[in-house]
Amino acid sequence: MERIKKCVAHCAHSPLSEILSTAGQAALEAGKILRNLYSQPHQVRYKGEIDLVTEADVAAEKKILDIFSRRCPDVAILAEESHADYTSVPKGAVWIIDPLDGTTNFAHNFPWFAVSIGYAEKGEGLAGVIYAPMLDELFCACKGYGAWLNGEKITVSGTGDLGKSLFATGFPYDVRQKPESVIAALEKVLTRSQGIRRAGAAALDLAYVACGRLDGFWEIKLKPWDTAAGYLLVQEAGGRVTDFRGRTYSPFDGEICASNALVHDGMTDILKEFSF
Ligand code: IPD
Ligand code: CA
Ligand code: CA
Repeated sequence: MERIKKCVAHCAHSPLSEILSTAGQAALEAGKILRNLYSQPHQVRYKGEIDLVTEADVAAEKKILDIFSRRCPDVAILAEESHADYTSVPKGAVWIIDPLDGTTNFAHNFPWFAVSIGYAEKGEGLAGVIYAPMLDELFCACKGYGAWLNGEKITVSGTGDLGKSLFATGFPYDVRQKPESVIAALEKVLTRSQGIRRAGAAALDLAYVACGRLDGFWEIKLKPWDTAAGYLLVQEAGGRVTDFRGRTYSPFDGEICASNALVHDGMTDILKEFSF
């Protein structure tokens, strides 16, 4: 709890400090469930050809929803496993929850996954928490106050050269049907950068851009729960987040380009031809 208190102290003057505290506690509780289930045999179901869900996704989401229904029953819910329907950007206050980002990793006992919880009003991200249970790293951000890792302030990297930048990306679940543009974008960035990682959890990719371990991240066809917390983390850590053409980003958009700001134009110069 110490690190949540530290984050809350950093934004004590914000009306969002209580929201951040609740989100942090829910993420830690859900993370504990994921950590406990990690070494057990998994019950895997298929939502799509390569899109999995396990008993852990469901259990972690239930824990988060239980906490929110007790602590803030008036805030609407958008959550991947049980409240995933949206036709437009929610107007009021909403939690945007991915109980287990990186399910494929979890199901393969690859310990890189996270809980992601964003809080938005009128579609704008105001608070966000990402917790990686196997690394015990808690990332938090509060609009206008900054971003923190385990309570300590974080900033994006200072790399201004695309050729010296380390990037991350991910592949959409329909990649078997439509691999062409994904591979073409990958090739273009790969041949102009220091390297690319595809570790398998978009929320953590964004958290890693926020704390300077990565210089940029891009992906298509993500859902609001993949990025709602992470895009705010990057912005509050001094980075930039747009679509592939450099336009204002919303987690309800399908494509994201996030960076340390310095290499952003270089990224969008490459990615704009792959914009939807
Ligand atoms: C997925 C992960 C992955 C990304 C996929 C996402 P899930 O989320 O973030 O890295 O490439 O597009 O859907 O399904 O594990 O919650
Ligand atoms: Ca996800
Ligand atoms: Ca998920």
